[in-house]
Amino acid sequence: MKLSDYLFVFALLFSFLLLTSAHNHEDFLQCLTLQSEKDKPISNIIYTPSNSSYSSALNSYVRNTRFSTPSTPKPQVIVTPLGVSQIQETLYCAQKHRIQVRVRSGGHDYEGLSFVSPEPFVILDMINLRNIEIDVENNTAWVQSGATLGELYYWIANKSRTLGFPAGVCQTIGVGGHFSGGGYGTLLRKYGLAADNVLDAHLIDVKGRFLDRKSMGEDMFWAIRGGGGASFGVIVSWKIKLVPVPANVTVFTVRKGLEQNATKILHRWQYVAPNIDRDLFIRVLLTGSGFVQYGNRSVHASFNSIYLGGKDKLLPLMQKSFPELGLVSEDCIEMSWIQSILYFAGFQNGQSLDVLLNRSLTVNSYKAKSDYVRQPIPEAALEGIWPSFFEKEAQSSVIILNPYGGRMSEVSESATPFPHRAGVIGKIQYLVYWSEEGTAATKKHVRWMRRLYAYMAPYVSNSPREAYINYRDLDIGKNNKGRRTSLRQASIWGTKYFKNNFQRLVFVKTVIDPTNFFRNEQSIPPLSF
Ligand code: FDA
Repeated sequence: MKLSDYLFVFALLFSFLLLTSAHNHEDFLQCLTLQSEKDKPISNIIYTPSNSSYSSALNSYVRNTRFSTPSTPKPQVIVTPLGVSQIQETLYCAQKHRIQVRVRSGGHDYEGLSFVSPEPFVILDMINLRNIEIDVENNTAWVQSGATLGELYYWIANKSRTLGFPAGVCQTIGVGGHFSGGGYGTLLRKYGLAADNVLDAHLIDVKGRFLDRKSMGEDMFWAIRGGGGASFGVIVSWKIKLVPVPANVTVFTVRKGLEQNATKILHRWQYVAPNIDRDLFIRVLLTGSGFVQYGNRSVHASFNSIYLGGKDKLLPLMQKSFPELGLVSEDCIEMSWIQSILYFAGFQNGQSLDVLLNRSLTVNSYKAKSDYVRQPIPEAALEGIWPSFFEKEAQSSVIILNPYGGRMSEVSESATPFPHRAGVIGKIQYLVYWSEEGTAATKKHVRWMRRLYAYMAPYVSNSPREAYINYRDLDIGKNNKGRRTSLRQASIWGTKYFKNNFQRLVFVKTVIDPTNFFRNEQSIPPLSF
């Protein structure tokens, strides 16, 4: 066959695919109209590319501009259900017309899996399902998946200043993705993960059934608390246990440069932070500076901390266990727990709590990866990291180390799908940001990240090299496009996120979604596939 013949066949095939997908999408919309209840018309919850508000509906919750380029695949339809029946209708019609569904709560997925797919797809956006009910008498709350962590914290504080919840640091994160992937924040050493504090959940499964903990059964309830929600159904809401926090906590940030012994102090931190009193959480943020001013370069380690108590107790504790940091009274600020949420999110002290209700976030392109540390990293190996901060691509980069221990060590590896528990010193997150557009800039920065990750290999967990599912990283392996991926292939990334729990996740998936309707590049595959 001549080249021109090949091109002709290709063009024919391409227009056929376009036609089929256009039909799918029209049939899908027609199906939704037929299914919808008369008093709940779907027109006000649907966005298609022909709507003037389609772009803003899509992009308001894209948190990584790496996934909002002209060539990024776009959804055929965005559905923003107002209630359970509209989720059920969406799932029914999507299955009938073979369109993939991506569920989006806060849109923070690091690889954009909640709003990008290589197959024709619709986004089921939980934005309208964000109700929060706080029950201070029983120390519980029901929170819908479309709520943000900021909204949750705000409404808890509105009812009580001595109750809190152990979840993430950034206030715009969506509850749906965060809880289903584990979810951690500054209370993790005291109370574990968000997922460890979930008491019940409401979910719609592939058959459209509305299930609670009792009717879904303990296997499925186990799977959605750390196994990633996207493989199992649409989680509508969560019942959570609120935790006691003192009326006053103390925060501090102490910054050390290399010339102030940052490397030695960081090395020592690995022995102190996971073993110290569980009321104390000290994370470290490593940043570079001065790569342009050759000869004047440094790396800074910011020891960023919260203590669940007053500074009168914190100072002697630090003096005894971590004198190397040199913490003094002037470094410490006492405040309420809810103010500490603002402090960690980077707001000024005294700022109104209303900022927690703000859903907008300044976005850039970024790439991230994670690691778990089980043996202290030697000082010489830490020294070996610093030169990467002086490379051009690292202008806007950060490495964040979070200490484990405390409550995290007491929960067994199999209690939830999240397996990184006893024996973990801490977790590392590597992040690089950039604002230049285009694939060349993306490649350059991603390559920098991969070099750093390769450098770290000898010093972090191995067999498997553990990773955190909420810091999604498609470099560690992915499923095939379409419905079929072998267990062996999926185990490559699956054991990194879940260790031995991966097998139980596959079992649960096989029972509840055997045809693999709920799927993405890193969804749990059912056994028959
Ligand atoms: P998004 O809507 O993108 O969903 C993520 C995944 O969950 C997707 O696969 C999606 O399909 C699925 N999903 C979402 N809602 C669902 C539902 N209702 N039912 C079923 N599946 C659903 N993490 C952390 O533990 N601690 C932290 O402090 C931070 N900080 C942080 C800051 C910033 C700026 C970012 C971008 C991210 C974090 N994270 C984090 C990571 C965050 O926890 C992770 O990206 C969550 O999955 C985000 O949840 P969203 O609902 O926002 O994401």
